[in-house]
Amino acid sequence: MDALIIEGPAQLKGSVDISGSKNAALPLLFSSILFDEEIRFKNVPRLWDIETTLSLLETMGAEFSWEKDEGTISILPSIKTKMAPYEWVRRMRAGILALGPLVAKYGEAKVSLPGGCAIGARPVNFHIDAMKQMGISVEVEQGYIKAQVPKRISGAHIVFPQVTVTGTENLMILACHAEGATRIENAAQEPEIVALGEVLNRCGAKISGLGTPVLEIEARRLNPPVNPISIPPDRIETGTWISASVASRSELLIRNCDSAQLTSIIQAYRRLGTGIDVLSDGAQMKIRPPDRYEALELETAPYPGFPTDMQAQMLANLCLAWGKSRLRETIFENRFMHVAELRRLGAKISVQGNVAEVDGPSILQGAPMMATDLRASASLIVAALSAHGQTKISRIYHLDRGYQRLDRKLSALGARVTRIIE
Ligand code: EPU
Repeated sequence: MDALIIEGPAQLKGSVDISGSKNAALPLLFSSILFDEEIRFKNVPRLWDIETTLSLLETMGAEFSWEKDEGTISILPSIKTKMAPYEWVRRMRAGILALGPLVAKYGEAKVSLPGGCAIGARPVNFHIDAMKQMGISVEVEQGYIKAQVPKRISGAHIVFPQVTVTGTENLMILACHAEGATRIENAAQEPEIVALGEVLNRCGAKISGLGTPVLEIEARRLNPPVNPISIPPDRIETGTWISASVASRSELLIRNCDSAQLTSIIQAYRRLGTGIDVLSDGAQMKIRPPDRYEALELETAPYPGFPTDMQAQMLANLCLAWGKSRLRETIFENRFMHVAELRRLGAKISVQGNVAEVDGPSILQGAPMMATDLRASASLIVAALSAHGQTKISRIYHLDRGYQRLDRKLSALGARVTRIIE
């Protein structure tokens, strides 16, 4: 297994380009199931989760070609097996995104239950309940969700009990294929929902309210997209680079980003004391770390709130801030696995329930650490950039699931990072 060795404290210099968004790309790739023609994508990030998605589509009968360096993919869906097996869904929970498109297009699907992961139990009951409301018969048997459309998918009035990103994505696709209109309340407002909705609308769908908590969807016949679908920049990768700049106290120019999607992240880092200049109509940001960081209180929330996917990285930064910081995690019940690792570097963090309290500032010292999930890996790297001495981060495969060559991008900026095989 790969591990990273980082010599800190790091000094970064120059500019970094943001890759395409993982969480926008995954639902868009799965939506190719809806069409019979070849669908093309560009600005696709080079990630394990993309590899897993393509392999899963391949087991269903799809053919694809992926130019990894160019970031282009074409998929000829030609689905024969309407099933997403456990073998793939256990590697990537986003496999649940096959459910909506399969049922919409073929009226049936058998998709493995994703199961829990390092950050929480992560059930999919909201997806299932909403599908039942649309007249789809859904049973859970032997670890699989079996869905069948007895007559037709019916438009419905769905109120999600809690905001769900992939749930909104699956239901939005089903609603495009229903008879009658659908209203989704408490819908996710994440930019990834907007990206999917805009592509569907370009294909002939009628979805209004994108980016708000209420979506109105009228069923329409979808035509395949004419032009390649372009994956927007990754807002969490962008936030992670702000975090890396703060950790290394180095000025950094972030390019090819969409700063309009980072309002809550920018606000939080400004409160910490960081200077952030938004340039080039929001496509670039200059990060200017101050001499002293101030402690802050913050909580994660669905978009437009501060994202849970940035909580771990922010926690690593708060170790450098003066005073007591409090970070409340409101989305996932178990997303503090990185805390025990950060403590190994000398961080003073205590966790009570869903609140992490940080006593700062700490002078972090390098130590061996173990990555537990994707964003935790990013947090440990950020902490290692600010620590003195050598840090080894094991199980770095989590990182490769969701960050395009983060270690190479860091090396190009002057950080001393080496990838080794353990
Ligand atoms: N939930 C339920 N029942 C459901 C669905 C969700 O109880 O049927 C709960 C979850 O357990 C969680 C909360 O609702 O406590 C929100 O979960 P959500 O469904 O929004 O999460 P998701 O769609 O599985 C996506 C991202 C995650 C990101 C979350 C929250 C993708 C592929 N994944 O997951 O990304 O953390 O939304 O923003 O879009 C990551 O990239 O590292 C990552 C974990």
